[in-house]
Amino acid sequence: MASKEPQDIFQSLRKDAFKALEEAFDFETIRKIESDYFGKNGGLPRVLRGLKDMPELERKTMGSTANALKKEIKEMIKIKKGEIEKNNALKNKDDWFDISRPGKKISRGHFHPISRILKEVAEIFESMGFEIVEGPEAETEYYNFDALNIPKNHPARDMWDTFWLKPLKNRLLLRAHTSPMEARYMEKNNPPLRIIAPGRCFRHEATDTLHEHTFYQVEGLMIGKKTNLANLKGILETFLRKLFKNKDLKIRFRPSYYPFVEPGVDVDIKLDPKKDWLEIAGAGMTHPQVLKNVKLNPNQWQGFAFGLGLDRIAMLKYKIDDIRLFHSGDLRFIKQF
Ligand code: DAH
Repeated sequence: MASKEPQDIFQSLRKDAFKALEEAFDFETIRKIESDYFGKNGGLPRVLRGLKDMPELERKTMGSTANALKKEIKEMIKIKKGEIEKNNALKNKDDWFDISRPGKKISRGHFHPISRILKEVAEIFESMGFEIVEGPEAETEYYNFDALNIPKNHPARDMWDTFWLKPLKNRLLLRAHTSPMEARYMEKNNPPLRIIAPGRCFRHEATDTLHEHTFYQVEGLMIGKKTNLANLKGILETFLRKLFKNKDLKIRFRPSYYPFVEPGVDVDIKLDPKKDWLEIAGAGMTHPQVLKNVKLNPNQWQGFAFGLGLDRIAMLKYKIDDIRLFHSGDLRFIKQF
């Protein structure tokens, strides 16, 4: 009876192996079956190890049964592998690539509305003989305030709630306007001169649809022997009419106060006779003290300066009603330009 036992084991091994193979549909499962039956601790070697204490004759019979079974399972594995291979090939056929199908569109980048408007502004001023200059966003207290005739403790400093950079003792800040470039440029360049200085500015203030902590300005400066307010008006009007492609656009000056100009004005535009005036810039005749600060003689040189809100202009031109959209990173907004 003892001899029957290994026979039964062979039978059930055979049954299990065939069942497992029947249910195998990938090479991974086949590899597992191979190791389950032929691996070091697999089913067949285990049974064979159990035969070693049997009488020689029986051992021989069992051995050949085991070999026959091994051959049979291996054969079956081979057939199964062939099937899987065939199946895989068929599956890949479904991925067949049709070269006549329309391709995937490669999406192209585009300029942010602020960059677009900046490019247009720069081109128009260049056509009027202005040079484009740029300056640092991290600015010194001196250029942001002192050089522009805004002395320490002067109430005018309240107009620019400023982001101060640490350590505070360095007196560095994120520039609150582009006006510091006026002083920087005049220190290094002799008049007559005509520049615009576009750039990013920062203010520590509550935001709303018209105010943002980060925004863009375009500073303008023209210094000559006789440069006057009428020139300023002519230049701004020409510039705005070109930018808005509107020959009937009107501008007006309203008296205002900025420490670095005297007289100072606010500039309003009217894009449409039926609509209200809108403020878009501060401007004025460069204050004699500012000229002195950059070692120019106010009796020899005079000129004007202006600071345009670039975001405000972009909003008018593209009919955007909330300044905060520019920095929102909202692709639904950005992709419209
Ligand atoms: N820097 C001013 C501001 O940010 C704007 C300004 C006003 C600039 C008058 C000028 C100017 O050049 O003349 O509020």
